[in-house]
Amino acid sequence: MNVSNIEIIRKIGAGMKGTTFLIKNKGKDYAMKIQHVLEKDRTRDFSNELWREIDLYDYIGRMKLKNRCFFTQLHHYDFINDCGHKQEREWEVDTNSSFGKELAELDKSPWCLRLFLDYHGDSTLATYMKSHRLAIKQKYSMLLQLCKIIMLLYEGGYMHKDLHENNIMVAPTTKKYFTLMGKKVPYYGIQLVAIDYGNVIHEKFGIPYQKMSRHFVENKYMYLMTEILYGGDCVIRSFIMNYEKMIADCLKKKRGLPWEVDGNYLHKGLKRLFIDYPDFIEKYKETYLRVFPKARELFDYVESQIRTSNKYIFPMIINRENDLYFVFVLNRLEMRFALEHPKEYKKIMRWCSEPEFILPKKDVANLLEMNTPNKFVRFLLSKI
Ligand SMILES: Nc1ncnc2c1ncn2[C@@H]1O[C@H](COP(=O)(O)OP(=O)(O)O)[C@@H](O)[C@H]1O
Ligand SMILES: [Mg+2]
Repeated sequence: MNVSNIEIIRKIGAGMKGTTFLIKNKGKDYAMKIQHVLEKDRTRDFSNELWREIDLYDYIGRMKLKNRCFFTQLHHYDFINDCGHKQEREWEVDTNSSFGKELAELDKSPWCLRLFLDYHGDSTLATYMKSHRLAIKQKYSMLLQLCKIIMLLYEGGYMHKDLHENNIMVAPTTKKYFTLMGKKVPYYGIQLVAIDYGNVIHEKFGIPYQKMSRHFVENKYMYLMTEILYGGDCVIRSFIMNYEKMIADCLKKKRGLPWEVDGNYLHKGLKRLFIDYPDFIEKYKETYLRVFPKARELFDYVESQIRTSNKYIFPMIINRENDLYFVFVLNRLEMRFALEHPKEYKKIMRWCSEPEFILPKKDVANLLEMNTPNKFVRFLLSKI
């Protein structure tokens, strides 16, 4: 791709380090992602997130066409000197923090990296969910497309690690079907595309720095479950719970989001779940301990401590044996609580409205009992 004559049309997104522009090159639209880098970043090195991202683009470039459509393609990249780009940020960063210092150093650097990517329109899953009413079969197709994306990356040994609603684009398609585990799944006119690969992990990059991520190296298949259903950034979980609506409701009420109101909201909310709703825990803990039996010992330990000590749950479990299984149980208890007691969930998690599940209650309850990625996908496949 010759990029000597590009025309910048408009800005389409900006994060802490980079900005994405819609550009034209020889009459074709592209998304150009530009960010300041240090001179030394030009050397290929997997300890550097820039090169981990480029490595994933290489993998995507080698995929069959019918699979590549779930990802954005890199057409060209270059490092440029005397880069005049000025990074604008929505949030201020403490200039004394290490991240603040890193950003200041980047802003000063004359070097930039430019990535020239396929342009996938202006709808992210976040904006799309706010402005469209979906039929139930479309919801299942979208969930299965998310599973397809996660599985395709897994087949190459990768996990995206940052799949949330703003990193999924929604584009129209005329294609009819894709296949997943041997079954044909209709697109219903909607193609999901995963973008933003800066957090990608792979064994060849070395052991990821986050504590929980060591499980990725120990047992990738089970760790896949964290991409599928665990954690605040997990797109399938937030899609099922319609987080975007909860976020929009908080913004409407100008009340601040849970983590803005209280940085410890998750810690506090989960602790209150155990302390204030012992009957709920009693009723459901066996259900999810049966799904993940390895969590039992740690669960008993946390339960015995939480009502007597002043400690939060996560510091109590981190790096203990079977902590991964414990968080799976905890996650499912939390989602089940949201499902059964939306009013109370809103209160303890500091939301501004009650969660509204996009799938029938019975199906969500069933999904919460799937203990492997394959079972999870097979259940969704049985719905279409
Ligand atoms: N290829 C693309 N096509 C269309 N829009 C894009 C594309 N890449 C990024 N965007 C838009 O720009 C935003 C920021 O880009 P992203 O790659 O997620 O970077 P970051 O989150 O690190 O700032 C996205 O949320 C999306 O709205
Ligand atoms: Mg992003």
